[in-house]
Amino acid sequence: MIGTANGVAISITGLGCHVPERVLSNDELATMVETSDEWIVERTGIRERRIAAPEEALSDLALPAARAALEQAGLKGAEIDLVIVATVTPDMAFPATAAILADQLGARDAGAYDLSAGCTGFMYAVAQAYGMLAGGLSQRALVVGGDVLSKIMDWSDRTTCVLFGDGAGAVVLERVGEGGFLGFELGADGSGGPQLFLPAGGSRTPASGDTIGEHLHFVKMNGREVFKFATRVLVSSAEAVLAECGRAIDEVDVYVPHQANVRIIEYARNKLGIPEDRVVVDVDRYGNTSSGSIPLALADAQAEGRLEAGTLVLMTGMGAGLTWGSGLIEWTDGGRG
Ligand code: ACO
Repeated sequence: MIGTANGVAISITGLGCHVPERVLSNDELATMVETSDEWIVERTGIRERRIAAPEEALSDLALPAARAALEQAGLKGAEIDLVIVATVTPDMAFPATAAILADQLGARDAGAYDLSAGCTGFMYAVAQAYGMLAGGLSQRALVVGGDVLSKIMDWSDRTTCVLFGDGAGAVVLERVGEGGFLGFELGADGSGGPQLFLPAGGSRTPASGDTIGEHLHFVKMNGREVFKFATRVLVSSAEAVLAECGRAIDEVDVYVPHQANVRIIEYARNKLGIPEDRVVVDVDRYGNTSSGSIPLALADAQAEGRLEAGTLVLMTGMGAGLTWGSGLIEWTDGGRG
């Protein structure tokens, strides 16, 4: 699906993020599996990642991120009427982590649900929240993207465990006077599902103690196929949303791609023709945080002073599904409409 904003100006008025304290370096990983700092840095650009404590679940990362986003928006939790949490690692299968979070924030009148679109979850959730606000169903939405992938990693599989980390980011969406979201492009190719999946825990192979022995509760990935898919859709999705919105690539001030691998980001940046100083890269510090990746990178860009009123920001995610999604936003200073 693809579309441009329908005339109602809706923007991000608050942004926050949170990562666990524990840093896991490449050198430490090399004591767990047969790998090296050199291999990981050369093939992925990742130097370290954050790992949740055993007792930490997604809502524990989402809550501080959400509080920071609300504070920046100058809102109380009770003023939020929609909470969407994009994740593949909710606290539990149900209730939704969004409902847990809404309760913790005091958002008593909010509709709250989780959304599963792999690493693209945040883009899907932002597009949905945009639609809810544009359609008049919601006035103030909180969107969280976050994952605790360390809990579903096979820590003896070097082809996956070196790539991922834990983290969450949150944004508040509201009507604004001008600027804001210009358009979205979302897609999915379910035939690519077997390239990146978690076999157990659903209705086909329910969660059970027996299957853990067969590693069915851990992520399975065909890295080469995902790499090819990622480099293709990062380019095609970005080009599609820009064309739909009538914008040119050289108008993009800040490019926020999904942070999976520096080589994938570099490929897309070169192919699109975006100068190096316009791309946000933090995969070196966080690894691939799945749904947390784009909001974490946005928060990094904001902390570096790169997001000002009028800044044109292109975000593109891709991941399990296989899914992809882009959003184009003219950044605003939070001035509400
Ligand atoms: N340390 C050392 N050697 C390793 C490691 C490791 N951690 N992992 C794999 N190798 C070995 C392989 O076994 C292989 O050895 P072989 O030649 O003897 O068979 C060799 O390194 C080369 O392996 P390749 O798979 O060809 O390495 P490649 O350059 O393709 O990089 C990688 C692998 C990093 C996984 C890459 O394919 C990639 O980034 N793919 C995309 C993954 C991704 O981004 N997934 C997330 C998508 S988003 C989401 O929804 C979660």
